[in-house]
Amino acid sequence: MTAGQAEAMLKRWPDWGLDIDGKRVLDLDEMFGGLPVVLEIGFGMGEATAQMAAADPGTGILAVDVHTPGQGNLLGLADRNGLTNVRVANGDAIILLREMLVGDSLDGCRVYFPDPWLKARHHKRRLIQPEFLGLLATRLKPGAVLHCATDWEEYAEQMLEVLTAHPDFENTQADGGYAPRPGFRPLTRFEGQGLDKGHVVHDLLFRRK
Ligand SMILES: C[S@@+](CC[C@H](N)C(=O)[O-])C[C@H]1O[C@@H](n2cnc3c(N)ncnc32)[C@H](O)[C@@H]1O
Repeated sequence: MTAGQAEAMLKRWPDWGLDIDGKRVLDLDEMFGGLPVVLEIGFGMGEATAQMAAADPGTGILAVDVHTPGQGNLLGLADRNGLTNVRVANGDAIILLREMLVGDSLDGCRVYFPDPWLKARHHKRRLIQPEFLGLLATRLKPGAVLHCATDWEEYAEQMLEVLTAHPDFENTQADGGYAPRPGFRPLTRFEGQGLDKGHVVHDLLFRRK
């Protein structure tokens, strides 16, 4: 962690940070003053998160990652830019969803460039799997949108397959395929690295039924 990230952690963690301890249920209304709340899983260094929070102050972003320097970075960005609609959660998104969020509480979920786990024997570690989707669906309000993006063609195909087959989600795209990149999603750090390698990026927008 850089000195700046550590300083932001010290200054802002008490008000804007939370540990995923699985021991309490969050009151999102109290945390975000009644704003609709979108969960972002795996924000990395948080640059895209901060841009989306600045562009849409009427939406709260509950941003979760296990990567501590990124948490400091995002808190620093939120502090310097006066973003009061971001909260940073440290730990595993699955525990957050399972233990700390009540049903029908989220207005959306964003998963941008999740770890692709390239080796076949590691594919089971990928986040977008039927079991995860079943848990997430219970925490999303009906009509809430799950937005995924990836630059790994084969992971994109897997996402499209499991989301299309899942009984709790429906594709927002009439043709049943990938979505055009929504204007609100900024270029992320990992996306930039993928584009530098010539990868093609796919967005998927699925609605909770
Ligand atoms: C490939 S990076 C993408 C970061 C960022 N979204 C971007 O596009 O630049 C994936 C991130 O997901 C985080 N992550 C992976 N599994 C997670 C989990 N179960 N809960 C929270 N964060 C997770 C990793 O720590 C990492 O920062």
